[in-house]
Amino acid sequence: MKILLTEEQIRQGVGHMAQNVARIYADRPLSIIGVLTGSIMVVADLVRRLDMPVRIGFLRASSYRGSATSPGELSINADLLPDVKGRDVLVVDDIFDTGHTMSALLQRLRGMEAASVRSLVLLRKHGRKEVNMEPDHVVFDIPDAFVVGYGLDYEDAYRHLPYVAVLEAEDLALGPPQ
Ligand code: IMP
Ligand code: MG
Repeated sequence: MKILLTEEQIRQGVGHMAQNVARIYADRPLSIIGVLTGSIMVVADLVRRLDMPVRIGFLRASSYRGSATSPGELSINADLLPDVKGRDVLVVDDIFDTGHTMSALLQRLRGMEAASVRSLVLLRKHGRKEVNMEPDHVVFDIPDAFVVGYGLDYEDAYRHLPYVAVLEAEDLALGPPQ
């Protein structure tokens, strides 16, 4: 594994992003909707930097993947979602890869009569986009590689790492850790 973003780089990037978010919404109450499970770290770190009225909710998006890199069908579970009607919503995910997840989530939330819906991702992967949109806010642009850590997983492992690392061919060949 090779470290791509250190703890310190992430801390600074998320800190700058919190300033942008605070500026955009001024003191209007904001509903931050994290996409489980990958967004937990960025949501936790972002909200602690926001000195403004914030609510936090989550929804779950799972794309059933045959392998680490090929996306399959997306299922959205909104059981944990608070009422967003009339609220300013910021959807937060770990990574914008093909963009299918974010695109589907925004469409779903826009159908729920939110006052506004914007998107924020920690990472955007270069050259992978398959949809006709970009996230509104991106903390880091990264090269096209499979990354883990700071919420991102490989077969549910590595999410707890405090940094973002590239999973290399040797790591993948070993298979998922126990
Ligand atoms: P998208 O729908 O292709 O944009 O994929 C978004 C989802 O795929 C993210 O929320 C992640 O769960 C997962 N994903 C995409 N790329 C990576 C990666 O490099 N490492 C770990 N998960 C990834
Ligand atoms: Mg995810």
